[in-house]
Amino acid sequence: MPKLIISSADRVFVLTGAGISAESGIPTFRDAGGLWRNYRIEEVASPLAWRGDPHFVWDFYSMRRKAASAAKPNPGHFALASLEQALHDRFFLCTQNVDNLHELAGSQCVAHMHGELFKSRCDSCSRPPFPDTSIHESQGEIPLCPCGGKIRPHICWFGEVPFHLEQIFAELEVCTVFIAIGTSGSVEPAASFATHVSGRAKTFYVGPEAPANHSSFDDCFLGKAGELLPILFPH
Ligand code: APR
Repeated sequence: MPKLIISSADRVFVLTGAGISAESGIPTFRDAGGLWRNYRIEEVASPLAWRGDPHFVWDFYSMRRKAASAAKPNPGHFALASLEQALHDRFFLCTQNVDNLHELAGSQCVAHMHGELFKSRCDSCSRPPFPDTSIHESQGEIPLCPCGGKIRPHICWFGEVPFHLEQIFAELEVCTVFIAIGTSGSVEPAASFATHVSGRAKTFYVGPEAPANHSSFDDCFLGKAGELLPILFPH
């Protein structure tokens, strides 16, 4: 198996996708049995869907809140939390995932570029996102903000701008090792991060199959994150 060497001078940028939570029982999006095999993106994960049928959107995210609240972090999450402890500020974790398994595994600094499942916000006023584990099934009332606006999940929907991009690109500029884990490389802007740093940083992919953007990686470690990461980052 190729070696993933991290030297004392390296700055490591890790990007995770749905694959790192697969072994925790949370379905990915595009694999067999994935969310987008059972739901239409335009009906549950877009501003248009929200304007058209907020009940159906809350149904979808309530289902996901239930599934995620029953899930536990796996050895892949714990290996990254330990790597953060070992590297301190030479480590940056950016996730496309909206679950909180990285934090439950002990990761301190996680940039959720697509939002967080257990947070909500008002769709009208500038009230900041707030912690929210509540479930809203279809016939129930849509929760309202004191301003009268509708409360929506704090998720970056298709067509919306991801969060923390300024910090993320600042970290991409200084990383010397880029590692993507469990992402199909089919959604921008994350799918272009490896190309953005290649030539300047060493780039690696970890997942059971080569991603769509595999040509941007110097090496691919093919296997499950929960099995490979503890080997790649022994702690
Ligand atoms: N370990 C590592 N990777 C895995 C595992 C595993 N145990 N199981 C599956 N994978 C890989 C698959 O091979 C696939 O390449 O995880 C990837 C999951 O890909 P997607 O389902 O496309 O998820 P992701 O890349 O995170 O999606 C990106 O798209 O739908 C939007 O906003 C959503 O954040 C999401 C974005």
